[in-house]
Amino acid sequence: MEYFTLYNGVKIPKVGFGTYKVIDQSAQGIVETALSVGYRHLDTARMYMNEKEVGAGIAASGVARKDIFLTTKVWRDDLSYDDTMASVENSLKDLGTDYLDLCLLHWPMPETDREKWQEKDLSAWRALEKLYKENVIRAIGVSNFLPHHLMPLMKEAEVTPMVNQLEYHPGYCQAHAVHYSQQQGLLVEAWSPLGRTRVLEDALVLELAEKYGKTPAQICLRFALDNHVLPLPKSSSAERMKANLDIFDFTISPEDMSRLMCMPQTGWGGHHPDTF
Ligand code: A2P
Repeated sequence: MEYFTLYNGVKIPKVGFGTYKVIDQSAQGIVETALSVGYRHLDTARMYMNEKEVGAGIAASGVARKDIFLTTKVWRDDLSYDDTMASVENSLKDLGTDYLDLCLLHWPMPETDREKWQEKDLSAWRALEKLYKENVIRAIGVSNFLPHHLMPLMKEAEVTPMVNQLEYHPGYCQAHAVHYSQQQGLLVEAWSPLGRTRVLEDALVLELAEKYGKTPAQICLRFALDNHVLPLPKSSSAERMKANLDIFDFTISPEDMSRLMCMPQTGWGGHHPDTF
Protein backbone atom coordinates (compact mmCIF):
# COMPACT_ATOMS: atom_id res chain seq x y z
CA MET A 1 0.00 0.00 0.00
CA GLU A 2 1.27 3.48 -0.84
CA TYR A 3 0.90 6.44 1.53
CA PHE A 4 0.31 10.17 1.55
CA THR A 5 2.11 12.04 4.33
CA LEU A 6 0.19 14.65 6.31
CA TYR A 7 2.03 17.87 7.19
CA ASN A 8 2.68 16.58 10.71
CA GLY A 9 4.47 13.52 9.29
CA VAL A 10 1.66 11.01 9.85
CA LYS A 11 1.38 8.53 6.98
CA ILE A 12 -2.04 7.67 5.60
CA PRO A 13 -2.78 4.80 3.17
CA LYS A 14 -3.61 6.27 -0.25
CA VAL A 15 -6.98 4.52 -0.54
CA GLY A 16 -9.44 4.26 2.34
CA PHE A 17 -12.58 2.17 2.76
CA GLY A 18 -15.75 4.22 3.27
CA THR A 19 -18.47 2.88 5.56
CA TYR A 20 -21.32 5.37 5.08
CA LYS A 21 -24.69 3.59 5.03
CA VAL A 22 -23.04 0.39 6.10
CA ILE A 23 -25.26 -0.23 9.09
CA ASP A 24 -26.21 -3.12 11.45
CA GLN A 25 -24.51 -6.52 11.66
CA SER A 26 -23.48 -6.41 8.02
CA ALA A 27 -21.03 -3.59 8.79
CA GLN A 28 -18.90 -5.97 10.85
CA GLY A 29 -18.68 -8.48 8.01
CA ILE A 30 -18.03 -5.80 5.40
CA VAL A 31 -15.20 -4.31 7.45
CA GLU A 32 -13.71 -7.77 8.01
CA THR A 33 -13.85 -8.43 4.27
CA ALA A 34 -12.33 -5.05 3.46
CA LEU A 35 -9.43 -5.76 5.83
CA SER A 36 -9.01 -9.27 4.45
CA VAL A 37 -8.66 -8.01 0.85
CA GLY A 38 -6.01 -5.49 1.90
CA TYR A 39 -7.58 -2.23 3.08
CA ARG A 40 -5.69 -0.69 5.98
CA HIS A 41 -7.56 2.60 6.14
CA LEU A 42 -11.18 2.77 7.37
CA ASP A 43 -13.41 5.83 7.37
CA THR A 44 -16.46 6.03 9.61
CA ALA A 45 -18.35 8.75 11.51
CA ARG A 46 -20.43 9.13 14.63
CA MET A 47 -23.36 9.98 12.35
CA TYR A 48 -23.08 6.69 10.41
CA MET A 49 -24.16 4.90 13.61
CA ASN A 50 -21.96 1.92 12.84
CA GLU A 51 -18.89 2.49 14.99
CA LYS A 52 -19.61 -0.53 17.23
CA GLU A 53 -19.84 -2.78 14.18
CA VAL A 54 -16.76 -1.25 12.58
CA GLY A 55 -14.90 -1.86 15.86
CA ALA A 56 -16.18 -5.45 15.97
CA GLY A 57 -15.01 -5.95 12.37
CA ILE A 58 -11.54 -4.73 13.26
CA ALA A 59 -11.41 -6.97 16.34
CA ALA A 60 -12.58 -10.03 14.37
CA SER A 61 -10.22 -9.41 11.45
CA GLY A 62 -7.05 -10.36 13.27
CA VAL A 63 -5.34 -7.26 11.84
CA ALA A 64 -3.49 -5.36 14.56
CA ARG A 65 -5.00 -2.00 15.48
CA LYS A 66 -1.65 -0.29 14.89
CA ASP A 67 -1.69 -1.49 11.28
CA ILE A 68 -5.03 0.20 10.56
CA PHE A 69 -5.53 3.90 9.88
CA LEU A 70 -8.87 4.66 11.52
CA THR A 71 -10.88 7.84 10.95
CA THR A 72 -14.10 9.00 12.55
CA LYS A 73 -15.98 12.30 12.62
CA VAL A 74 -17.85 14.56 15.03
CA TRP A 75 -21.41 15.32 13.91
CA ARG A 76 -22.62 18.87 13.48
CA ASP A 77 -24.97 18.72 16.49
CA ASP A 78 -21.89 18.30 18.67
CA LEU A 79 -20.03 21.44 17.65
CA SER A 80 -19.17 22.71 21.11
CA TYR A 81 -16.11 22.00 23.23
CA ASP A 82 -17.84 19.66 25.69
CA ASP A 83 -19.99 17.86 23.13
CA THR A 84 -16.99 17.26 20.88
CA MET A 85 -15.05 15.83 23.82
CA ALA A 86 -17.99 13.55 24.63
CA SER A 87 -18.42 12.56 20.99
CA VAL A 88 -14.79 11.45 20.68
CA GLU A 89 -15.01 9.58 23.98
CA ASN A 90 -18.08 7.69 22.71
CA SER A 91 -16.40 6.98 19.38
CA LEU A 92 -13.38 5.51 21.15
CA LYS A 93 -15.62 3.33 23.31
CA ASP A 94 -17.75 2.11 20.40
CA LEU A 95 -14.77 1.49 18.14
CA GLY A 96 -13.01 -0.38 20.96
CA THR A 97 -9.80 1.60 20.75
CA ASP A 98 -7.89 4.08 22.87
CA TYR A 99 -6.76 6.36 20.02
CA LEU A 100 -7.88 7.61 16.62
CA ASP A 101 -5.63 8.11 13.64
CA LEU A 102 -7.78 10.94 12.33
CA CYS A 103 -10.83 12.79 13.61
CA LEU A 104 -12.75 15.32 11.49
CA LEU A 105 -15.45 17.89 12.13
CA HIS A 106 -18.06 16.34 9.84
CA TRP A 107 -19.85 19.48 8.55
CA PRO A 108 -19.37 23.15 9.32
CA MET A 109 -22.22 25.05 10.88
CA PRO A 110 -24.51 26.44 8.17
CA GLU A 111 -23.65 29.95 7.20
CA THR A 112 -27.26 30.93 7.72
CA ASP A 113 -26.41 30.77 11.41
CA ARG A 114 -23.85 33.49 10.74
CA GLU A 115 -23.61 34.79 14.27
CA LYS A 116 -22.64 31.44 15.68
CA TRP A 117 -21.01 29.34 13.03
CA GLN A 118 -17.44 30.49 13.35
CA GLU A 119 -17.62 30.42 17.11
CA LYS A 120 -19.07 26.90 17.20
CA ASP A 121 -16.65 25.47 14.65
CA LEU A 122 -13.82 26.96 16.66
CA SER A 123 -14.92 25.69 20.08
CA ALA A 124 -15.24 22.18 18.66
CA TRP A 125 -11.84 22.64 17.06
CA ARG A 126 -10.31 23.55 20.43
CA ALA A 127 -11.46 20.16 21.74
CA LEU A 128 -9.81 18.34 18.82
CA GLU A 129 -6.62 20.38 19.35
CA LYS A 130 -6.52 19.31 23.00
CA LEU A 131 -7.02 15.64 22.14
CA TYR A 132 -4.35 15.95 19.46
CA LYS A 133 -1.89 17.44 21.93
CA GLU A 134 -2.69 14.64 24.38
CA ASN A 135 -1.96 12.07 21.62
CA VAL A 136 -5.48 10.65 21.72
CA ILE A 137 -5.82 11.60 18.04
CA ARG A 138 -2.83 11.42 15.66
CA ALA A 139 -4.24 13.89 13.13
CA ILE A 140 -7.20 16.30 13.09
CA GLY A 141 -9.17 17.83 10.27
CA VAL A 142 -12.47 18.92 8.79
CA SER A 143 -14.96 17.71 6.23
CA ASN A 144 -17.14 19.61 3.78
CA PHE A 145 -15.46 22.89 4.70
CA LEU A 146 -15.46 25.39 1.84
CA PRO A 147 -12.85 28.15 1.79
CA HIS A 148 -15.13 30.57 3.64
CA HIS A 149 -15.50 28.02 6.47
CA LEU A 150 -11.83 27.12 6.49
CA MET A 151 -10.35 30.63 6.41
CA PRO A 152 -11.56 31.80 9.84
CA LEU A 153 -10.55 28.45 11.34
CA MET A 154 -7.06 28.65 9.81
CA LYS A 155 -6.68 32.10 11.32
CA GLU A 156 -7.57 31.07 14.87
CA ALA A 157 -6.26 27.50 14.99
CA GLU A 158 -3.27 26.62 17.14
CA VAL A 159 -3.02 23.35 15.22
CA THR A 160 -4.23 23.84 11.66
CA PRO A 161 -6.29 21.02 10.10
CA MET A 162 -4.39 18.29 8.28
CA VAL A 163 -7.29 17.01 6.16
CA ASN A 164 -10.42 18.29 4.41
CA GLN A 165 -12.80 15.55 3.20
CA LEU A 166 -15.05 16.68 0.35
CA GLU A 167 -17.40 15.19 -2.21
CA TYR A 168 -15.11 14.71 -5.19
CA HIS A 169 -15.38 12.76 -8.43
CA PRO A 170 -15.26 13.35 -12.18
CA GLY A 171 -18.08 15.81 -12.74
CA TYR A 172 -17.69 17.37 -9.30
CA CYS A 173 -14.22 18.69 -8.64
CA GLN A 174 -14.92 21.57 -6.22
CA ALA A 175 -11.83 23.19 -7.72
CA HIS A 176 -11.83 26.25 -5.47
CA ALA A 177 -12.19 24.27 -2.23
CA VAL A 178 -9.65 21.64 -3.30
CA HIS A 179 -7.02 24.15 -4.42
CA TYR A 180 -7.47 26.34 -1.36
CA SER A 181 -7.19 23.32 0.97
CA GLN A 182 -4.12 21.96 -0.81
CA GLN A 183 -2.46 25.36 -0.89
CA GLN A 184 -2.93 25.60 2.88
CA GLY A 185 -1.19 22.26 3.34
CA LEU A 186 -4.28 20.08 3.92
CA LEU A 187 -4.67 16.69 2.31
CA VAL A 188 -7.99 16.47 0.47
CA GLU A 189 -9.95 13.23 0.78
CA ALA A 190 -12.80 12.29 -1.57
CA TRP A 191 -16.16 11.01 -0.37
CA SER A 192 -18.34 9.40 -3.05
CA PRO A 193 -15.33 9.10 -5.36
CA LEU A 194 -17.52 7.06 -7.73
CA GLY A 195 -20.20 9.73 -7.81
CA ARG A 196 -22.61 7.19 -6.27
CA THR A 197 -22.13 5.14 -9.46
CA ARG A 198 -23.83 7.75 -11.66
CA VAL A 199 -20.45 8.79 -13.11
CA LEU A 200 -19.61 5.19 -14.00
CA GLU A 201 -21.97 5.44 -16.98
CA ASP A 202 -20.60 8.71 -18.27
CA ALA A 203 -19.51 8.46 -21.92
CA LEU A 204 -16.05 9.96 -21.32
CA VAL A 205 -15.37 7.78 -18.28
CA LEU A 206 -16.41 4.72 -20.31
CA GLU A 207 -14.18 5.78 -23.21
CA LEU A 208 -11.17 6.16 -20.92
CA ALA A 209 -11.89 2.86 -19.16
CA GLU A 210 -11.69 1.16 -22.56
CA LYS A 211 -8.53 3.09 -23.51
CA TYR A 212 -6.64 2.29 -20.27
CA GLY A 213 -7.97 -1.26 -19.95
CA LYS A 214 -9.45 -0.39 -16.54
CA THR A 215 -12.99 -0.25 -15.14
CA PRO A 216 -14.89 3.05 -14.97
CA ALA A 217 -14.56 2.89 -11.15
CA GLN A 218 -10.77 2.55 -11.43
CA ILE A 219 -10.70 5.60 -13.73
CA CYS A 220 -12.60 7.60 -11.09
CA LEU A 221 -10.29 6.48 -8.29
CA ARG A 222 -7.16 7.22 -10.30
CA PHE A 223 -8.67 10.60 -11.19
CA ALA A 224 -8.61 11.40 -7.47
CA LEU A 225 -5.08 10.08 -6.86
CA ASP A 226 -3.63 11.88 -9.88
CA ASN A 227 -4.99 15.12 -8.41
CA HIS A 228 -3.38 14.31 -5.05
CA VAL A 229 -6.78 13.50 -3.55
CA LEU A 230 -7.27 10.40 -1.38
CA PRO A 231 -10.34 8.37 -2.47
CA LEU A 232 -12.62 6.60 0.02
CA PRO A 233 -14.60 4.10 -2.06
CA LYS A 234 -17.13 1.79 -0.46
CA SER A 235 -18.53 -1.48 -1.67
CA SER A 236 -20.33 -4.49 -0.27
CA SER A 237 -18.66 -6.86 -2.74
CA ALA A 238 -15.21 -8.36 -2.11
CA GLU A 239 -14.52 -8.36 -5.87
CA ARG A 240 -15.25 -4.65 -6.24
CA MET A 241 -13.38 -3.86 -3.01
CA LYS A 242 -10.32 -5.56 -4.48
CA ALA A 243 -10.70 -3.89 -7.87
CA ASN A 244 -10.93 -0.52 -6.13
CA LEU A 245 -7.47 -1.09 -4.65
CA ASP A 246 -5.97 -2.14 -7.96
CA ILE A 247 -5.20 1.36 -9.22
CA PHE A 248 -1.47 1.67 -8.76
CA ASP A 249 -0.32 0.42 -12.15
CA PHE A 250 -1.46 3.32 -14.36
CA THR A 251 -1.90 7.08 -14.45
CA ILE A 252 -4.23 9.30 -16.46
CA SER A 253 -2.46 11.40 -19.11
CA PRO A 254 -2.60 15.21 -18.74
CA GLU A 255 -4.75 15.45 -21.91
CA ASP A 256 -7.30 12.94 -20.60
CA MET A 257 -7.21 14.60 -17.18
CA SER A 258 -8.09 17.94 -18.77
CA ARG A 259 -11.09 16.34 -20.44
CA LEU A 260 -12.24 14.79 -17.16
CA MET A 261 -11.80 18.13 -15.39
CA CYS A 262 -13.98 19.78 -18.03
CA MET A 263 -17.00 17.50 -17.50
CA PRO A 264 -20.16 19.41 -16.53
CA GLN A 265 -20.08 19.93 -12.76
CA THR A 266 -23.00 18.39 -10.90
CA GLY A 267 -22.58 17.34 -7.29
CA TRP A 268 -24.93 15.32 -5.21
CA GLY A 269 -26.97 18.49 -4.76
CA GLY A 270 -28.81 19.76 -1.73
CA HIS A 271 -25.85 18.74 0.40
CA HIS A 272 -23.95 21.97 0.14
CA PRO A 273 -22.54 22.59 3.63
CA ASP A 274 -24.54 25.78 3.98
CA THR A 275 -27.86 24.14 3.17
CA PHE A 276 -27.54 20.58 4.47
P1 A2P B 1 -21.73 -2.14 -4.27
O1 A2P B 1 -21.81 -2.17 -2.75
O2 A2P B 1 -22.78 -2.98 -4.91
O3 A2P B 1 -20.34 -2.43 -4.80
P2 A2P B 1 -19.77 6.20 -3.76
O4 A2P B 1 -18.66 5.75 -2.85
O5 A2P B 1 -19.32 7.08 -4.89
O6 A2P B 1 -20.89 6.83 -2.99
O7 A2P B 1 -20.37 4.90 -4.47
C1 A2P B 1 -20.79 3.81 -3.72
C2 A2P B 1 -21.46 2.82 -4.62
O8 A2P B 1 -20.56 2.38 -5.60
C3 A2P B 1 -21.92 1.61 -3.88
O9 A2P B 1 -23.30 1.55 -4.12
C4 A2P B 1 -21.19 0.43 -4.50
O10 A2P B 1 -22.09 -0.62 -4.71
C5 A2P B 1 -20.71 0.98 -5.80
N1 A2P B 1 -19.40 0.48 -6.21
C6 A2P B 1 -18.30 0.39 -5.44
N2 A2P B 1 -17.25 -0.05 -6.15
C7 A2P B 1 -17.71 -0.26 -7.42
C8 A2P B 1 -17.10 -0.72 -8.61
N3 A2P B 1 -15.80 -1.05 -8.65
N4 A2P B 1 -17.87 -0.81 -9.73
C9 A2P B 1 -19.17 -0.48 -9.68
N5 A2P B 1 -19.81 -0.03 -8.59
C10 A2P B 1 -19.09 0.09 -7.45
